[in-house]
Amino acid sequence: MSKISAAMPQAITVPGLRERKAQGQRVVMLTAYDHPSGRMAEDAGADILLVGDSLGMVVQGQPDTLAVTLDHMVYHCAMVSRAAKRSLVVADMPFMTYHTGWEDAVRNCGRCLQEGGVQAVKIEGGAKRAALIKALVDSEIPVMGHIGLTPQSLHTFGGFKVQGKTAEAAQALLDDAKAVEEAGAFAMVLECIPSEVAKEITARSGILTIGIGAGPHCDGQVLVFHDLLGLYDGPMPRFVRSYGDFGKQMREALGRFREDVLSGRFPSEEEAFHLSPDQARRFGARDEDAGTSEP
Ligand code: KIV
Repeated sequence: MSKISAAMPQAITVPGLRERKAQGQRVVMLTAYDHPSGRMAEDAGADILLVGDSLGMVVQGQPDTLAVTLDHMVYHCAMVSRAAKRSLVVADMPFMTYHTGWEDAVRNCGRCLQEGGVQAVKIEGGAKRAALIKALVDSEIPVMGHIGLTPQSLHTFGGFKVQGKTAEAAQALLDDAKAVEEAGAFAMVLECIPSEVAKEITARSGILTIGIGAGPHCDGQVLVFHDLLGLYDGPMPRFVRSYGDFGKQMREALGRFREDVLSGRFPSEEEAFHLSPDQARRFGARDEDAGTSEP
């Protein structure tokens, strides 16, 4: 093994992810929105860091994802990309950045690669996005599809609802999955659909399926960083598993800081700087502050 390959972690690539499907290896995707979350997710071994437009809800405090703009996305992607040494970073294209024609879409997605430093983009929608996915792939922009509960369709669906619950709706999802794959996507998110439907899509598909609320049969799984760590206060979907209540721990730590400030326990002598005795004398420092050591 050469020095370079021994020192550098093997980077996750789009062709490498296509191989994973062929080899039947599972993949792990986590959302990340800034440098610390990107670093933590990468250090935990996530294959893919999705800069989700869920940032509208968990970072910006919006009720849904619709207010996220292209500029927001580029800004967050750049922070996450700087953290990623091994993981593949994917920009989740915001509402209205790919709906007004493929030229706008190619330009907007291109900004996420050029300015945001990501390696791929995610586009919501199935068969109706096939031509667009093809245009992006033809422009050398790798695409991850996203079908089922597509949160940008919130008002069309009338809420965040499980999709594909009838045989007809399930068949439409199979058709969507096929269209997304045939258009050239390298992977697709399956969100909030019955396990049986996700299982069938995964079995028929030649590209990775990454589930969220889609049962255990997908090729990979994704959860939102803030949801699984207990950092989001909003309503939690049933499919989220909690891996810690770090929001509670952070509140307690912040509360302890407040108590220490109010009681005078913070800062301590060790946490303060001093003038030298000579400088303290020249400065005319009050007795209680008189210098004892160099800063
Ligand atoms: O925005 C997001 O975080 C997502 C994932 C939940 C798939 O789209």
